[in-house]
Amino acid sequence: MIEFENVRAGYGGGDVLQGVTLTVERAAITCVVGPNGAGKSTLLRVLSGLLRPSAGTILLDGKPVHALSPAEVLAAGVAQVPQQGGLFGNLTVRDNMLLGGYLIRSERGRLKKRLDELAEAFPVITTRAHDKAADLSGGQRRIVEFARALVTNPSVVLLDEPTLGLDPKTCEVVFESTQTMNELGVTVLMVEQNVRFGLKLAHHGVVMERGQVLFAAPADELLARPDMAALFFGAAPETSHPEGGL
Ligand SMILES: Nc1ncnc2c1ncn2[C@@H]1O[C@H](COP(=O)(O)OP(=O)(O)OP(=O)(O)O)[C@@H](O)[C@H]1O
Ligand SMILES: [Mg+2]
Repeated sequence: MIEFENVRAGYGGGDVLQGVTLTVERAAITCVVGPNGAGKSTLLRVLSGLLRPSAGTILLDGKPVHALSPAEVLAAGVAQVPQQGGLFGNLTVRDNMLLGGYLIRSERGRLKKRLDELAEAFPVITTRAHDKAADLSGGQRRIVEFARALVTNPSVVLLDEPTLGLDPKTCEVVFESTQTMNELGVTVLMVEQNVRFGLKLAHHGVVMERGQVLFAAPADELLARPDMAALFFGAAPETSHPEGGL
């Protein structure tokens, strides 16, 4: 449903994305992994409209989105959860959620119904509704960020390193929340530094290196590849890795 075709993009000092061609499947979780500086965040940025590609095309359900502004991309159904600090700390959870619904504020019935649906999927929205976002734990904030991105009912959600700075227990909450998001029918395109975590969560995996796609394959296949172990985990076999678990 999202097709990147030979996309090139950069920040003025030459192209960071060096011709990315990639298909992201509808209603699945796709996780992009790769070393620092590979261009993973840049890939999300060209999709969300924050960065204009210098060449190539991006199609969403067959329609070009690579020349749209960020607001137009959001209106087309692609929401991004920022890498960090997406909530207004001084506002309550409830008010943060209402801000997420700003685009549909005139449709009160629709907004209320959507907030109720999300409160069911992510209970913290109700239990901490009247607390300031700044008073939540890191994991609870991440869940509110996820839920807030879903208020306008996007078809695609972009997550850039959703587990950054979270402890292993809270990573599990992010794991489940991402699955919940996907079960609501959302296509998730995520970037994850924790390769094992990301590929266990995702259906499809994409390995990027130096602005290009090195491999794209079912996530479990990528996890099992010996060259993946060498790229990311050192040469040690997967089972002996101390992180274990997720
Ligand atoms: N705003 C910017 N201005 C100039 N160069 C940038 C900017 N953002 C990223 N870059 C450069 O683009 C390249 C790719 O960056 P990008 O953020 O896409 O990498 P990444 O794969 O997300 O890395 P990380 O794992 O560290 O988040 C890097 O060389 C980086 O220096
Ligand atoms: Mg990044």
